[in-house]
Amino acid sequence: MSDKTWSGRFAERTDRSVEKFTASIDIDKRLYPYDIEGSIAHCRMLARSCIITDEEAATLIEGLGKIKHELDNGKFQFDESREDIHMHIETRLVEEVGKVALKLHTARSRNDQVALDIRLFLRDETSKTIVLLMNLKKVVVEMAELHIKVAMPGYTHLQRAQPVLFSHHLMAYYEMFSRDVERFQDCLKRIDVMPLGTAALAGTTYPIDREYTAELLDFSQISANSIDAVSDRDFIIEFLSAASLCMVHLSRLAEELIIWSSSEFQFIELPDAFATGSSIMPQKKNPDVPELVRGKTGRVFGNLMAMLTVMKSLPLSYDRDMQEDKALLFEAVDTLQACIDIYARMLPKIKINAEIMRQATATGFLNATDLADYLVIKGMPFREAHNCVGRAVSYALENKKELHELSLVELKPFSNLIEEDIFEILSTEAMIDRRKSAGGTATENVLAAIKAAKKEVNNFSKKSL
Ligand code: ARG
Repeated sequence: MSDKTWSGRFAERTDRSVEKFTASIDIDKRLYPYDIEGSIAHCRMLARSCIITDEEAATLIEGLGKIKHELDNGKFQFDESREDIHMHIETRLVEEVGKVALKLHTARSRNDQVALDIRLFLRDETSKTIVLLMNLKKVVVEMAELHIKVAMPGYTHLQRAQPVLFSHHLMAYYEMFSRDVERFQDCLKRIDVMPLGTAALAGTTYPIDREYTAELLDFSQISANSIDAVSDRDFIIEFLSAASLCMVHLSRLAEELIIWSSSEFQFIELPDAFATGSSIMPQKKNPDVPELVRGKTGRVFGNLMAMLTVMKSLPLSYDRDMQEDKALLFEAVDTLQACIDIYARMLPKIKINAEIMRQATATGFLNATDLADYLVIKGMPFREAHNCVGRAVSYALENKKELHELSLVELKPFSNLIEEDIFEILSTEAMIDRRKSAGGTATENVLAAIKAAKKEVNNFSKKSL
């Protein structure tokens, strides 16, 4: 009736519209290297367990190698009637090596096969994501080192709060990206479980050796429950969650880059090569790269939501709904990696307007807390000091001055404790460098954080993954 591998019990040919609707080849063809790698390991295990002969295994492996070559070189013919990448490779193998190809699927089903393929794929892509993030961390720490002298206003509620080092602000992102790396490393633990040999859902009657397959594919464990092995997509959801959180961090940085590059702030200037102009307004330079990173964050969140929704009511074990996982995962992987990579290229080329940033720390009463702390050290209770400085700020506002622009004569009425040494205390540099508490913005702290970070990024080895 038809050439499908499962057509035995069917009297009618599949409707073309159904073939089109159910086909996933356009998306899952990306899994071909993993599908072939998994099949080769499966063949070797079948031969070693005496389920097929060594000659048969050799023929199958050679055929699979040829098909891989065709796929690598764009010579492979795709056909929607063959549904997915697993069917394509198997059908092509029959053409290539004849009937023996029909033995490849012994003790296996597409349910465990696809679970294996996605795990192999995601293991590689998670490692790649970690490498990209480590590179971004390196870029961030180098930038922090280069601009160590730059002071800027730190904000709360997007209102100027207290001066900080620009490098301290950058190193906050370093910390976020470090947690992202940890999360992806943690994802790898759950990805590292070999599902093959589960067969459709219940295991198999053949005397297979799953530990051997796991060893061949470099997995550290095999799945413990066959039903779980074909039903589980938690590892995808975990990756999408970690990816979403990483996109939150990239997007927050995007927002800051956009604000900082505006005429209102002018803290930074984005490199021409990473911005675009307007077709109507000649003066414009638009921050497209950070805007798109911020925008693409929506896709990754969306794919996490979609994946959670796909899985939420599925009865055990495999359901075809799960075929939707790949489009969602692939898009998220590509989006995340593209965003990390473009940041690593763009950040070092950003021009930092140190003088404008420094100027911004001198207005807006960023030294009010320091004046209060000064009074506390001289013996005034904090609440009283807070009130006293509040009145001084109100006086300064009325006289259109900053606190450090008031003379000692003007300050004295607020408290007799104020003396000449106050002016040194209220300078931006002194305020920054006095914040020596662990994790604070003092230059010596930030330099130590940079030193430790440089050691970490330079010691990172891809081999550790
Ligand atoms: N293309 C399918 C998927 O991605 C492969 C597994 C199909 N299994 C099945 N029983 N129809 O989920």
